[in-house]
Amino acid sequence: MDPLGKEISVSASVSPNETVESVRDDVIGWRRHLHQYPERSFHEVRTSQFVADTLASFGGLEITRPTPTSVLARLVGSGPGPVLAIRADIDALPINERNTHDFISREPGTMHACGHDGHTAMLLGAVKVLVGKRDALNGEVRFIFQHAEELNPGGAEELVQAGVLDGVDMIIGAHLWSALAVGKVGVKAGALMASPDILHITIKGSGGHAAIPHQTIDPIAIAAQFITNLQYIVSRNVDPLQPAVISITRIAGGTTHNVIPGEVELEGTVRTFDPTLRAEMPKRVERILSGITSAHGASYSFEYEHGYRPVVNDEGASELLRRAVVNALGDDVLIEATPTMGGEDFSAYQQRVPGAFFFIGARCEERGIVQPHHHERFDIDERALDFGTRIFVAAALDFLGAKQA
Ligand code: NI
Repeated sequence: MDPLGKEISVSASVSPNETVESVRDDVIGWRRHLHQYPERSFHEVRTSQFVADTLASFGGLEITRPTPTSVLARLVGSGPGPVLAIRADIDALPINERNTHDFISREPGTMHACGHDGHTAMLLGAVKVLVGKRDALNGEVRFIFQHAEELNPGGAEELVQAGVLDGVDMIIGAHLWSALAVGKVGVKAGALMASPDILHITIKGSGGHAAIPHQTIDPIAIAAQFITNLQYIVSRNVDPLQPAVISITRIAGGTTHNVIPGEVELEGTVRTFDPTLRAEMPKRVERILSGITSAHGASYSFEYEHGYRPVVNDEGASELLRRAVVNALGDDVLIEATPTMGGEDFSAYQQRVPGAFFFIGARCEERGIVQPHHHERFDIDERALDFGTRIFVAAALDFLGAKQA
């Protein structure tokens, strides 16, 4: 019986001798298949079915679907012990791929441009290896194949609400990282990724003829001042030693050259690590918006959408990862990860249990694999997949007190 009182089939179809080397071709094949059939956040229907079917082919797992497009697999060892969760995200992005390799996306307008195809494949590889080692495991490894990392409010929070972390002692997860060379793995305790909050603003003036501006309240001229002044928050209000970014990323207003429009819409993002600073940001942005619009007789609407919480790594979980990297790959692979203002909904799991998120180098200058995440020619060096599989296997064996393979 397992801890939830449910009978589990223990007959695995995977050989106990399965190793990271022997699943390498599988992992690359799975990644290329997923790459050809990307699906966007909350629509990962075929992807989740593919994951569930592949997991079922290993045997020895309890497989459930906590939400319609996510998959949870539990590998319960032969004796009692702690529970380690490992998470991979499975969703793609609304980007039209412009790579030229022969496994390019077959879905126009949708692309695995962040590496989540690789995350899914390397975790499947780790499951396959670990299923073969079930008899050596004391405790449980829980594999979370998460939907919708790319779209606020994210799939992680939904899975936490669905109870996927019930009974879990620690969680780890990784991102293939285009800023880091293949062959390196970055781990860091403490703050690693920012909270990506979202701004929605409308500046409301009064439109009219472009040649008679004094009879209008020109929202385009006011928006220009607002955008310029907004940058004073980071440069003049925020402690220079405290990371913060404000970017306006969309500005929409007007229809033609001789009409001053009535309104301008703006969208953007605010990135911070520190919770106190994060809490102050909406006030600071609105103070400038209110001051500039009222100075010119305009009005505004302002919506501040809170995105994911910052990813802050637990010391113990980070140490588990450092040991796993060194045991599986050697000392010279491990580096201290550089924090990024990017966001990740892995933070939702870290609100519930100790966890650590880390970066696996996937860049290769010689092979021309240099584009940033979310680029239409984003790619990964597939040698990185092996690193992920090895680290997950090593971390699971370590956490569950089994001998390293
Ligand atoms: Ni990503």
